[in-house]
Amino acid sequence: PRHFAIVPAAGNGSRMAASRPKQYLPLLGKPLIFHSLAVLCAAPAIDKVFVVLSVDDAEWRRHDWSSLGPKLVPLFCGGATRADSVLAGLRAAAHEVEPSDWVLVHDAARPCLAPWHIEKLIRELARDEVGGLLAVPVADTLKRAGEHRQVLATVPRENLWQAQTPQMFRHVMLRRALEAATHVTDEASAIEAAGLHPRLVEGDATNLKVTYPLDLHLAEWILTNREG
Ligand code: C5P
Repeated sequence: PRHFAIVPAAGNGSRMAASRPKQYLPLLGKPLIFHSLAVLCAAPAIDKVFVVLSVDDAEWRRHDWSSLGPKLVPLFCGGATRADSVLAGLRAAAHEVEPSDWVLVHDAARPCLAPWHIEKLIRELARDEVGGLLAVPVADTLKRAGEHRQVLATVPRENLWQAQTPQMFRHVMLRRALEAATHVTDEASAIEAAGLHPRLVEGDATNLKVTYPLDLHLAEWILTNREG
């Protein structure tokens, strides 16, 4: 089977409190999304990289993406939620993708994706029936809070993992799972709702998601110290 990437980038990044969607915030002189698109496009195992943009995206065309080469395919078909955007991307790409091909869904908001993250994910899941995702073991002690921020319980962190992306599943399985799912925040939970068990592949904390302004500084530090 071949491997395709889908990068949902149709969100508005409201938690960043910035003037533009976070995928376009500047990071080392490039739009934030550029960094992970470059790594995905350069991955020898990946055939094409579909970027799902909002229908009324006004910024994509203002940047030059030509250095990323012919694997990059922008699709202006984003939906109301992340899952809708991924599903729209799967549908738009369906004529190029076989049912048993792997699809790697990667957040536009995770700019520090490294080549080894992709290689490890693909290598460890190559013989898997279902697929899986990059994740890291939870380091902090977790508290479940009540309505008034009183601690109701300490959640044992043993066996708890933080889900990252890419998340890699078979095209047909992912599409069916997302069509059936409601209120999922990642692809794996749609697969879980279908009664299947995605496999966790250990990544590392450098593959962070830019959600709050501090994360941009961390991402810049990680990319600078990795490349320099
Ligand atoms: O908001 P959050 O950080 O969870 O978004 C994760 C990813 O999903 C981002 O890359 C964002 O652009 C994308 N997204 C999308 N369509 C939406 C909402 C979010 O493609 N309607």
